[in-house]
Amino acid sequence: MVVEAPIRNDIDEIMPGVIADRRHLHEHPELGFQEHKTARLVAERLESLGVEDIRTGINKTGVTGLIRGTAGGGEGKVVLVRADMDALPIVEENAVEYKSHHDGVMHACGHDAHTAMLLGLARVLTERRDQFAGTVKVLFQPAEELPPGGAKGMIAEGVLNEPHVDAVFGLHVAQEEAVGTIHVGAGPVMAAADRFSIHIKAKGGHGAAPHDCIDPIAVGAQIVSSLQTLVSREVDPIRHAVVSVCTFHAGNAFNVIPDTAELSGTVRSFDPDVRDLLQDRIAALATGIGAAMRAKVEVTYDRGYPATVNDEAMTAIVRDAATAVVGADRVHTKKPQMGAEDFSYFLLERPGCFFFVGSKNEAEGLVWGHHHPRFDIDEECMTAGIGTMATTVLNFLEQA
Ligand code: NI
Repeated sequence: MVVEAPIRNDIDEIMPGVIADRRHLHEHPELGFQEHKTARLVAERLESLGVEDIRTGINKTGVTGLIRGTAGGGEGKVVLVRADMDALPIVEENAVEYKSHHDGVMHACGHDAHTAMLLGLARVLTERRDQFAGTVKVLFQPAEELPPGGAKGMIAEGVLNEPHVDAVFGLHVAQEEAVGTIHVGAGPVMAAADRFSIHIKAKGGHGAAPHDCIDPIAVGAQIVSSLQTLVSREVDPIRHAVVSVCTFHAGNAFNVIPDTAELSGTVRSFDPDVRDLLQDRIAALATGIGAAMRAKVEVTYDRGYPATVNDEAMTAIVRDAATAVVGADRVHTKKPQMGAEDFSYFLLERPGCFFFVGSKNEAEGLVWGHHHPRFDIDEECMTAGIGTMATTVLNFLEQA
């Protein structure tokens, strides 16, 4: 059984360093696959901690390292903990001393905090090597915000093998939840996010002579209406899905029927078969309506990140760890949300859990949501994040 109090003391001791790292990263944000300085800082920190087998340049800027426990004589399981490192193309509007130095680039999703927390975790664990058996692999990933994302390529380069990883854990700060709380749930917690575009080729002409034309706007309007029946009439009502048409471009003049129209939108789902159904039916409905209305319709469907699905046993380990660290009244069941996350690729390969660390502080005005130019977190959330992750990892290795 892991003793929580000493972990808490360790973390309190390292928090000034964790906060300094987070602020440095916040000042120097880098976009997906361009995290060169971030990766260098990560590698330097890991090296100074004595982390073994540090590898850099994985899928461009990814970094991994191993922390081997000495309690089991080299035996034991391998657990991977992942942080994402990338920032967003957003102009920061915060007036803080650690404001972004890079014009138009901002850590507006908290990945600076994720990176700083994982470095803090590495520090806690390297100081406790003699207290656990097994290996912790720390993984710093590029480009979570930039589909197809950084996770898939790192997996393709073998980060889950040599040594074989048994379980995977990750976290995200949650600006919609109060600081000091942890949110964790089994099963699907984030959606699969796909995009589609629909090209309608019709026949333009004078707006006063529709009978000589095939109106792509009328065809597009039918398609938009029909797509709304997919979720309401074809998806099992106890399962969740979203189909949103978000762009509709056609025409330039009030009295000219255009030749073409372009639509695009997003599809969110949790179950693979709902995802398959929507992909098939969007194409069938759109092309069918086109045929019925004498237009030629082409549909492109691009699959984005799959749903993030947590393993039940791994989720129980996180929930117990969170309860030990922040108290049962501050641990909540995570409701599934329609956003997407490429940690899902790790969860397709290994059992694991992705959980959420409340970071909002209304009294301090830290209330702006993810991807907002005024996004900022209560840095105290990182204590709960590191504590929960450290306890999770140690309890997993002990149970293994
Ligand atoms: Ni994010």
